[in-house]
Amino acid sequence: MKQLLIPGGILYNGDCIVGAKQYIKDNSIDLIITDPPYGIQGDMLHHHYNRDERFVVQGYVEVSTNAYEEFSHAWIKEAARILRPGGSIYIISGYTNLYHILSALRQTELVEINHIIWKYNFGVFTKKKYISSHYHILYYEKIGGNRTFQTEVRFGLCEKDENGGSCNYQDRGDVWIMNREFKPGKIKNKNELPYELLVKMMQYSSQEGDQICDLFLGGCSTAKVAIGLNRKIIGFEISPTIFDIKTKEVETIIPGSMLSSLRIPVLTTPGRRGKRWSSEERQAVHKRYHEFMQAGMSKTNAISTLEKEFERGRFSLSRCLKEDIPDERENQNER
Ligand SMILES: C[S@@+](CC[C@H](N)C(=O)[O-])C[C@H]1O[C@@H](n2cnc3c(N)ncnc32)[C@H](O)[C@@H]1O
Repeated sequence: MKQLLIPGGILYNGDCIVGAKQYIKDNSIDLIITDPPYGIQGDMLHHHYNRDERFVVQGYVEVSTNAYEEFSHAWIKEAARILRPGGSIYIISGYTNLYHILSALRQTELVEINHIIWKYNFGVFTKKKYISSHYHILYYEKIGGNRTFQTEVRFGLCEKDENGGSCNYQDRGDVWIMNREFKPGKIKNKNELPYELLVKMMQYSSQEGDQICDLFLGGCSTAKVAIGLNRKIIGFEISPTIFDIKTKEVETIIPGSMLSSLRIPVLTTPGRRGKRWSSEERQAVHKRYHEFMQAGMSKTNAISTLEKEFERGRFSLSRCLKEDIPDERENQNER
């Protein structure tokens, strides 16, 4: 199989089912992000989307509807074999053949963590039905190890938006609204995934130096983002034309070059988290809260201020406030 060695990875031009068997050891991959052909005549998608075909790289290899079930079982079996215990996989899929992918996943040791909906712009206009503008992202894990999920990698738990909502909570919702990239005038693969989507998955589910795999490279977006974020990449693309054009772009990415553009979260872990509450501290919290209420402060602002003053999380502060005010005598007993 033709291969291309790049700093931080290796890309193969060939069938991923054959290639994975030949080149990837059992339990060796930390994270798979992959976007298989959809079995809906993807090679004809430009007609559907009314795209300018001059800018779409030719050679997309589709899988026929009849072969889709067997094909899905074969590559998902390989994906399950190569993932390390605790490793995770994101599969991007349309709706039409989703049931084959779900059925194949059920026959492996992989278990569902989330079923994410990716809502994008410019769904195909239809008159007598709703306009379809979402994909499915199946997020699964191979059980038996520690799964990487970096809860505060993008937004700290305490970070609030202008309406007082939690940025972390919103970012970790299971509906992702992200636009596909237009890239007018640039040569692209059909269905190229937006960088934003790949960055998000890699940030939450991997760390620098982790081994990432994409079984269906296409425009090599996963490979580019993996290298840009200083992860290692191994991947396959069956089409020689796509492989030759798109892997050239991967070669231009400097390892780690995207790291400086990542947002730095404000981390919250309160200084006194896990420390024992004394009756004095509980009394002081009640006293301050009472003062805030008398001054007309809202409950939310009062708790936010208490978080800073007492270096405690909002949940433990709320719990403390629900309890009765400790008796002075308790303090003396503690001393
Ligand atoms: C949906 S596209 C992937 C798009 C890619 N995620 C991107 O962002 O550009 C699927 C790709 O899989 C390739 N493909 C089809 N069958 C394959 C196989 N058995 N092994 C490897 N690649 C295959 C197709 O040629 C196509 O480029």
